Amino acid sequence: MRLNSFENMFIDQLNDLYSAEKQLVAALPKLAEAASTPQLKQAFQNHLEQTQGHMQTVEQLLTGMNEKAGGHKCKGMEGLIEEGKEVIGKRGDSKVKDAALIAAAQKCEHYEIAGYGSARTFAQNLGYTQAVDMLQRILDQEGETDKLLTALATGQGSPVAINEQATR
Ligand SMILES: [Fe+2]
Ligand SMILES: [Fe+2]
Repeated sequence: MRLNSFENMFIDQLNDLYSAEKQLVAALPKLAEAASTPQLKQAFQNHLEQTQGHMQTVEQLLTGMNEKAGGHKCKGMEGLIEEGKEVIGKRGDSKVKDAALIAAAQKCEHYEIAGYGSARTFAQNLGYTQAVDMLQRILDQEGETDKLLTALATGQGSPVAINEQATR
């Protein structure tokens, strides 16, 4: 931990996010495979592509600050993914399982939203305008993904309503 300067703390935060994204790149294909509803499968697959982009962007930011990405594991995301894997491993009704997969995935998205929100704000404080833009773009995609998952669960703004199907 290098909390001797705001910049070092910012770098630590980016490293944490890099690890979170890297773990999600490995987990999202498993979520996609476990999902039964085609639109949910597709949502996980689409977010996998975005997540690969996020990982590259964060790596780029670190490289730009002469820092090497990696060498740290985000324990928060590790725990959330662990919980997601518990859902993946369960048997039962496919729609009920889809609803549980959405809940697990939204916990990951909210974790990312919190992390990127802070990192974006720290970049603002440091006057790193390009980093602010790059982090904001990721933050927006995390938010859109979260909203899409809500839509698929509730049917509000979506043709599928997984929660409703799961309670039939
Ligand atoms: Fe991400
Ligand atoms: Fe995400």
